[in-house]
Amino acid sequence: ERVLFVTSECAPWSKTGGLADVSSSLPYALRELGLDVRVLVPAYSSTPPAPAAPIAVMPPSAGLPGASLAEATLPNGVPALLLQSPSLYARPGGPYQTETGSDWPDNAKRFAQLARAAAWLASEESDTPWRPTVVHANDWQASMAPVYLRHSGSKTAARSVVTIHNLAFQGLFDADVVAAIGLPPEAFASSLEYYGRCSFLKGGLVTADAITTVSPTYAAEIQTEAEGMGMAGILRSRARNLHGIVNGIDTAAWDPSKDSFLARTFDADRLDAKRENTAALRERMGLPASDGPLLGMVSRLAKQKGTDLVLAIAPALESLGAQVVFLGAGDADLEEAIRALVASRPSFAAAHVGFDESLAHQIEAGADLFLMPSRFEPCGMNQMYSQRYGTVPVVRSTGGLVDTVVPYDAATGKGTGFAFRDPTPDALLACITQALEIFKSRDAWRTIQRAGMARDFSWNASARRYADLYSSLHE
Ligand code: ADP
Ligand code: GLC
Repeated sequence: ERVLFVTSECAPWSKTGGLADVSSSLPYALRELGLDVRVLVPAYSSTPPAPAAPIAVMPPSAGLPGASLAEATLPNGVPALLLQSPSLYARPGGPYQTETGSDWPDNAKRFAQLARAAAWLASEESDTPWRPTVVHANDWQASMAPVYLRHSGSKTAARSVVTIHNLAFQGLFDADVVAAIGLPPEAFASSLEYYGRCSFLKGGLVTADAITTVSPTYAAEIQTEAEGMGMAGILRSRARNLHGIVNGIDTAAWDPSKDSFLARTFDADRLDAKRENTAALRERMGLPASDGPLLGMVSRLAKQKGTDLVLAIAPALESLGAQVVFLGAGDADLEEAIRALVASRPSFAAAHVGFDESLAHQIEAGADLFLMPSRFEPCGMNQMYSQRYGTVPVVRSTGGLVDTVVPYDAATGKGTGFAFRDPTPDALLACITQALEIFKSRDAWRTIQRAGMARDFSWNASARRYADLYSSLHE
């Protein structure tokens, strides 16, 4: 199988969230299984320049500029194709937004170009020695690839998969973008039209040969009106071709026994060494030393993640003797609220507002509890990193958090984390209060830590499922 893995972000070159982690670790795992996978990703300003000369030049089409494709290799050895289209991608700011946090006004063109390049590579029009048999498009930014495969008029034998990492982002634009990205009116009528506008995600969901999402529980949730974000009907109509495959993690990058970001490495048999990371984290963040529990949170600051629920119970957490560390960036009001909390209670709360890879690792290693009270969570990566680092997650029972955390059972003492149901401050506080009671008993706590550290979060099983899915598409 030759798989083109099409993505708008790929760690470590470009990253805003878990999609970037998956985009480097899943292709790696698939290659270990013997599949010939390449990653197609835009060459943003932050992407290291491609060392090699372009291997292909894609001509312009109505509305979209030409582009070149250059070979590059990810640090983990996975081959990539960098999509070089400087007028669309080479600018300061993030992959989707300006430096001040508004969406790039030409995002429709920027990500139509990514999808068009994928379809072009898979078609007989491109003259490259490597032509994919499967185009695997991720999220709305790539999900127009099967639309271009169907509507661009060129011949291809490639099959397509669209993976939903987050249904909240649907790539919704005015209907007139369809002409501006070089697609015929029938593409709008048959695939893209969504209540009079054009949805890139919907286009992919109706045209792809198969759809996956990143956990079995989320796959079921998004087919309900309550959690389908306006796409439930479309997803139900494709239920036979919709698969929930839980994400794995990069077990080399997230390994507490080898992690070079840590003050001291540790493993399940050397949990005392974890304490040094807790002390180092307090010191880096300017928190006073304490015997109390340290709570950590690393996330995009968005309604999805439930950061507001944590802020709402801050005084109660402080009176429980806990301290809290935040790392995150995103919505301006949440950034502001976190800064205000830190300013008013500097011995209780500390924060870094921004993106910081080293601090993300240090929080995973140093915190006692990791907070993930998400309103919805397609999969989530941090609760898996936490368990691997002996940092017990507190999660809301939703999406992939259900599939990756075993809730503590007081009757048996078994479990790898703590879970609650209602997305309310009270429910979160009750759950943390229960966790902190157990935290006082060193042996019970170690049992939970070790149960989490013993779990297999590698890609082995899930990569196999993707490989089987790809081959089923040619039957
Ligand atoms: P999502 O993709 O919805 O943001 P995930 O849990 O799947 O959530 O993945 C988030 C990834 O991004 C994790 O690797 C996490 O460590 C990382 N991350 C999020 N915010 C930051 C930040 N401010 N600094 C460093 N890493 C971050
Ligand atoms: C999305 C989801 C997150 C998931 C990640 C990788 O950003 O919000 O839950 O882990 O994609 O699949």
